[in-house]
Amino acid sequence: MSSNLSLSRPRAVVIMAAGLGTRMRSSLVKVMHPVAGRPLVDFPVRAALALGAHRVVVVLGHQRERVEAHLRAAFPEAPVAFATQAEQLGTAHAVLCAMPQLEGFEGDVIVLSGDVPNVTAETLEALIALPAAVRVLGMRLDDPAQYGRFVRDAGKLVRIREFKDCAPAERGIRDVNAGIYAIDAGFLRDTLGSLGRDNAQGEYYLTDLVERAATAGLGVETLTVEGDAALDLNGVNDRADLALAEARMQARLRRGWMRAGVTFVDPARCWLHADIEIGEDTVIEPDVALLGTTRIGRECYIEQGTRLSNTQVADRVTLHAYTVAESSNIGVECTVGPFARLREGTRFGRGVKIGNFVETKQAVFGDGAKASHLSYLGDAEIGPRANIGAGTITCNYDGVHKHRTRVGAGAFIGSDSQLVAPVSVGDGAYVGAGTTVTHDVPAGALALTRAPTKVVEGWVERKRQAREAEAKNKTPGDTRGGR
Ligand code: UD1
Ligand code: CA
Repeated sequence: MSSNLSLSRPRAVVIMAAGLGTRMRSSLVKVMHPVAGRPLVDFPVRAALALGAHRVVVVLGHQRERVEAHLRAAFPEAPVAFATQAEQLGTAHAVLCAMPQLEGFEGDVIVLSGDVPNVTAETLEALIALPAAVRVLGMRLDDPAQYGRFVRDAGKLVRIREFKDCAPAERGIRDVNAGIYAIDAGFLRDTLGSLGRDNAQGEYYLTDLVERAATAGLGVETLTVEGDAALDLNGVNDRADLALAEARMQARLRRGWMRAGVTFVDPARCWLHADIEIGEDTVIEPDVALLGTTRIGRECYIEQGTRLSNTQVADRVTLHAYTVAESSNIGVECTVGPFARLREGTRFGRGVKIGNFVETKQAVFGDGAKASHLSYLGDAEIGPRANIGAGTITCNYDGVHKHRTRVGAGAFIGSDSQLVAPVSVGDGAYVGAGTTVTHDVPAGALALTRAPTKVVEGWVERKRQAREAEAKNKTPGDTRGGR
């Protein structure tokens, strides 16, 4: 093999993801369990695409339809193909199942595991760059657990011994197999079909390729990751591994955003999904969750306990504590919360002010509109600079259909009003406090439904005197009046 074997050679990726993941104890196949909001299997697919792979073959078995449907939707444009491994006869058999999809392919086949989400493209690049027919990614662990052991001769890897096949002395080896490989396609094709299953688990081991390559005098090289970084190569086998993988992913995402100019007051206390974005000079307080495709602009201030799903936040927005928003769009310089709930289809223009205990849904607010306290605004269009008083409610549902409410520019809705939809309040119109608006209000008009206030002078004193007189008139022992 020439020493620049791997230099700019074409790449194909095989992702092994057919196993159920028994130790997860789940009705959901292991690779569909999420990390940073995405199924585990998405991460090796992303890594494969980052490597510029011409072909990506995902080997599926358990819940194949489910995983395939997910991947087709998540990566619609990508060169991702699927292979079926009906029976999980081992990792070599898994790759064998992918080979028909790699017919005629010459170059490097990178084999990834569906359950190792944190391996980086940089690590994979370093592995691929090693000059050998078989390149194995390894980790040096204090507790090598049940990983396959690297057995070396004069420093060179000569075989990988699975834990269950190890002699007692071999179990002490701390250099172990991460289950990620770069293999010359020709060698893989020639060798894969001839591997046996004479081992403790009766499986076709992909790891047996190492001994074949070493015996044939073809190069075998390892890239060993140690220390803290080795934790990124941990496979997810149970829920504890899943939590560790999530923690590693969260730490990486936070580091990335901090490098991009975002302040986290207490970095460990937030939860970020993989596909969010945050602009420079934005400050994130503790216990904030930024989920789905949420995007936050520059110079925003996000207070404690805020949870945003699939929500767009423009620049210089303040979200006060415990703001909850989903599928909403918040314009520049808006102020929202504390304790506001923005449901799907909420859209705020510039400088909208939303105060505490306000719920919005399918509500479009023009620039500078305000709803400062205790309101429900659903299926509504609120004009620019309109002021929605405390306790205003859009009665948008008649028990069968939803109806829309329109409030014009600069309109003023007095406190504790109900807007019974479908209804509109014209530009600059006023609605007096406590009004139930059932008809359209023209621009510039006042709408008012209010029973007159009756004032009875001296009523309290008269009432008190009457009570006292009644108490005196009671005979002792008469308990009818109580005490
Ligand atoms: C494998 C390696 C071991 C390594 C470890 C790293 C072998 C024989 N052993 O062991 O040296 O230390 O990974 O995590 O390769 N899969 C299939 N079809 C199969 C078997 C497995 O698709 O028939 C998939 C699994 O779904 C999983 C991945 O391959 O995504 C790894 O399989 P797993 O059974 O977890 O391998 P280990 O026993 O952990
Ligand atoms: Ca595993």
